[in-house]
Amino acid sequence: MTDLFSSINLGDLSLSNRLVRSATAERMADENGRPRGALTDLYTGLVAGGVGLIITGHMYIDPSGKCHPEMTGIHTDALIPPLTALANAVHRSGGRVAVQINHGGMQCSPEAVAEAVAPSHIEADFLTQPARAMRADEIKATIEAYANAARRAKLAGFDAVQLHGAHGYLISQFLSPFTNRRNDGWGGDLEGRMRFLREVCGAVREAVGPAFPLFIKLGMFDGVDGGLALEDGVQVVAALEGMGLDGVEVSGGIDATSSRTGIRSPEEEAYFRPLAQAAQTATQLPVMLVGGLRSRAVMEEVLTSGDAQLISLCRPLICEPDLPLRLQAGQARAACISANRCWPREPGEGIACHCDVRVEPLGTY
Ligand SMILES: Cc1cc2nc3c(=O)[nH]c(=O)nc-3n(C[C@H](O)[C@H](O)[C@H](O)COP(=O)(O)O)c2cc1C
Repeated sequence: MTDLFSSINLGDLSLSNRLVRSATAERMADENGRPRGALTDLYTGLVAGGVGLIITGHMYIDPSGKCHPEMTGIHTDALIPPLTALANAVHRSGGRVAVQINHGGMQCSPEAVAEAVAPSHIEADFLTQPARAMRADEIKATIEAYANAARRAKLAGFDAVQLHGAHGYLISQFLSPFTNRRNDGWGGDLEGRMRFLREVCGAVREAVGPAFPLFIKLGMFDGVDGGLALEDGVQVVAALEGMGLDGVEVSGGIDATSSRTGIRSPEEEAYFRPLAQAAQTATQLPVMLVGGLRSRAVMEEVLTSGDAQLISLCRPLICEPDLPLRLQAGQARAACISANRCWPREPGEGIACHCDVRVEPLGTY
């Protein structure tokens, strides 16, 4: 049996246990993307709660890719000092922290960008505004922006970088035939749609050097008609090691379906486990599984089966930042009821659990 609390090395990165805080947009930055003090408190609280690795909420690599107000930025060298302070605070508390870097593309709200861009012109019900097709020079500049963001993450002292390649953000938009209808070498067949990811990985790797841990959160399918199919997602996973990546967190859904609601039984947990199983057939890289992991028994069964090497949690750690210690002390499952009531109700508030009902923590459903 693989114990949730056994250590693991991801390249040069040593983690004391298998529990990862999946990237969670905290909405705790000012209008220039500068993290507020509340974010430091949140991270040191997570370290005190026993999590092995924190992955920050997505940070925007360029103002054109800012997804929503209060998103943290990593788009300018001016943010290196506050980001250094954040990484230092985590390290002083004994924790490990990776930065998730992102460009929102079509998923940037009108409050954050005047005009959203995407691989192709796109209008869809789940978007807050239509997106314009990117020019080739904008694509090249965006690849450079990813590389510069990764360089800043390393300079600021973070332990790793994770590319956001899921949930319908820019990398996922390039992979998807639903949002990428280009015929200029950046689209077309799967290899053409993978070109953007390939070039981002190459530029980022060059910026951080050969040994710095580099991960991706990958959407392995879109879940919309005409979108990325799982068989293509598996091909992307198979290509990741060759792109210089050190690990993959598997997720899916191009719209809001990545955070499924109402998980109440062991059968409803780990809803992306089939993705992890498919990923294991295609890569030797360590796999992190996210999506509805709630009970220690299911988490350990996933690890023991070899379907994943790490367990990633988002909403449960908003509800109970000390969940790792609680599980270790005998609590059977997270109190989170997966209602998705985590978003701030007002600007300045930041994410928090707003559910008045929780699963009885010591119960087994
Ligand atoms: C409030 C909130 C913010 C999120 N922010 C991000 C993010 O910044 N980057 C990301 O990759 N996923 C983000 N997600 C998705 C989660 O990381 C995770 O994939 C999803 O919620 C399923 O995991 P869970 O069942 O443990 O919550 C967010 C989800 C929520 C509820």
